[in-house]
Amino acid sequence: MSQNLPMDQPLGLFAISGSLRSESSNTTVLHALQATAPAGVIVSLYDGLGDLPYFNPDLDGETDTPPPSVGQLRTQIGQADGLLISSPEYAHGVPGVLKNALDWLVSSLEFPGKPVALINISPRSTFVHASLSETLTTMSASLIADPAFTISLPRKGLDVAGMLADPQITQCLHAALDAFVRAIRMHHTNHIGR
Ligand SMILES: Cc1cc2nc3c(=O)[nH]c(=O)nc-3n(C[C@H](O)[C@H](O)[C@H](O)COP(=O)(O)O)c2cc1C
Repeated sequence: MSQNLPMDQPLGLFAISGSLRSESSNTTVLHALQATAPAGVIVSLYDGLGDLPYFNPDLDGETDTPPPSVGQLRTQIGQADGLLISSPEYAHGVPGVLKNALDWLVSSLEFPGKPVALINISPRSTFVHASLSETLTTMSASLIADPAFTISLPRKGLDVAGMLADPQITQCLHAALDAFVRAIRMHHTNHIGR
């Protein structure tokens, strides 16, 4: 259910990286977004992707209590004002761990209408973004599209400090968050009373 979101109300964003790699650029960029978030915007990173059980509809019936890690993920999604996803492409597709998480969210009441931004740090990885867009739209997410969500990194292997030390990257990070926050506030304004 959408609700009015006054301008002075803090905004909570939940961020999921599609990579489990310890040096992941996708995870790093989400940490950098967290570090550059303006006052009143809190970015929380999901750290349970690799611990979710394989999706099984037998465990996800209307009368079933989902596995605890799944219930926790759904609660975190439900509490968030928006979802940031940044993912690598594997073999022209979505990483299995990320698709697994999304499958657990398909029937969750917390997901429909949730504003989602797909952060893109690999403009050449077109398949994963097309596939995620299709899946998220099918799941009734409110997928926000904005050129600011493409964050170009001049080289691989940058850590958070390296990203924050680069004025062009920090400008991109600020622009991405600004665009998403604006879209979320607009989304809430458009849904007042629904
Ligand atoms: C098994 C595997 C398959 C990959 N397949 C693709 C691909 O199809 N298209 C692509 O653009 N990159 C592909 N890549 C490259 C990754 O998407 C790229 O290295 C990405 O930056 C890794 O993200 P991370 O740093 O967040 O782990 C692949 C990498 C691996 C390990």
